[in-house]
Amino acid sequence: MAISSAYVCFLLLFTTFVSLISSHNLPENHVALFIFGDSLFDPGNNNYINTATDFQANFIPYGETFKYPTGRFSNGRLIPDFIAQFAGLPIIPAYLKPEKHKFTDGVNFASGGAGALVESHQGFVVDLETQIRYFKKVEKSLRREVGDAKAKKLLSRAVYLISVGGNDYLTKNSTASDEEFASMVLGNLTVALKEIYKKGGRKFGFPNLIQLGCLPYMKAKSEGSCNHEATAIAELHNALLPKTLDKLKEELQGFKYALYNIYQSFSQRLNDPSKYGFKNATTACCGSDLYGGVYSCGGKRGVTEYDLCDNPADFFFFDWRRLTANLQT
Ligand SMILES: *[C@@H]1O[C@H](CO)[C@@H](O)[C@H](O)[C@H]1NC(C)=O
Ligand SMILES: *[C@@H]1O[C@H](CO)[C@@H](O)[C@H](O)[C@H]1NC(C)=O
Ligand SMILES: *[C@@H]1O[C@H](CO)[C@@H](O)[C@H](O)[C@H]1NC(C)=O
Repeated sequence: MAISSAYVCFLLLFTTFVSLISSHNLPENHVALFIFGDSLFDPGNNNYINTATDFQANFIPYGETFKYPTGRFSNGRLIPDFIAQFAGLPIIPAYLKPEKHKFTDGVNFASGGAGALVESHQGFVVDLETQIRYFKKVEKSLRREVGDAKAKKLLSRAVYLISVGGNDYLTKNSTASDEEFASMVLGNLTVALKEIYKKGGRKFGFPNLIQLGCLPYMKAKSEGSCNHEATAIAELHNALLPKTLDKLKEELQGFKYALYNIYQSFSQRLNDPSKYGFKNATTACCGSDLYGGVYSCGGKRGVTEYDLCDNPADFFFFDWRRLTANLQT
C-alpha cells in the first residue's frame, strides 16, 4: 500500500475531471488522458528510441508488480496508471509503442530523463517540444478518425497531465542564475501548454517538484545530508509554477489547472516514513553503495552487481532517484 495513501489526494483531484467510463462509441462525456513529461510518468516510450540503458527500465527488477518490466521506472505502476484506473479508463499506452493506437482514450508521450529544455539529456530522451510535436500528430489522426467536431470536443474535455522540470534542474549546466534558469524552464513549459491549448486542451494537471536534493544519490554525494542547492532550485520552481499557471489562466479563456503538492507528500514521507507505511525512506530498494545511490538497479548499466530489497513496498525509494508504487489491484 506504500504509495497509495501518498497519492490518493492526487488521484481524487484528477478523478473530479475524469469521471466517466470509456467506450468505443464515445459517450457524450468521454474523457481522454494525455500525458507528458519525464520518468515519473513514462510508461515505456524510451524502449523505442535509440538511447542508453541509463534511460531505460525495461528489464527486471523494474515492473515487478506489473508482472513484467514495461519500461516504467519503478517496481510497478505509475501515477498516470492509477489515475486511468480510477477514471475507468484502460491503462494509457506509450505513444512510441509500435501498435495501432486508437487515441480516443488518450496516449502517453512521457520520456524518462526528459526536461522542458532541449539540452536536458539531449539525444537520449524525447524532450517536451518533441512530445508536443507528437501530440499534434495525434490531433490530426484523431480528426481523421472521428471527424473535426468530435476530435475538438474530445480534446477539450480531455485531461492533460504533465510532470516536467526535475531533469532540467538536475542537469543544469549553465552559468544562468537559478532565477533565469527557472524562467527558461517555465517559459518552455508555457509554450508547450499554449500549443496544447491551441489544439483544444483546457484541463491541465501537474505535480510540482520533489526535494531534489534528498534523492538517495544526492545524499550519497553529500555524506547523508540533503543537497541544499538542488532542493532550493526545486523550491524556487515550485514557488514560480503557480504564478506561471495563474498567468495562463488569465490569458487563456477556459484554461483550468490542478496542482498537486508532491513536494509536501515527499517531505512528509521522508520525515516520518512509518506514518505512511514505509520501513525505509533512506536507502533505495534497488541499487548499490551508500543509500543505493549508484544507478545499478537491474545490472545492465555498466555495474552488474546490485542489491535488491525483499519487499519494495517497505521502501520509499525504488532506485537511486525514483519512487516505489505499490497500490495493488
Ligand atoms: C525550449 O528550450 C530550448 C533551450 O533549451 C530551446 O532550444 C527550445 O526551442 C525551447 N522551446 C521549446 C518550445 O521547447
Ligand atoms: C556543460 O556545458 C558546456 C558548454 O555548453 C559543455 O562544453 C560541457 O560539456 C557541458 N558539461 C556537461 C557535464 O554537460
Ligand atoms: C534501510 O535499508 C538499508 C539497506 O537494507 C539499511 O542498511 C538501513 O539501515 C535501513 N534504514 C532504516 C532506517 O531502516
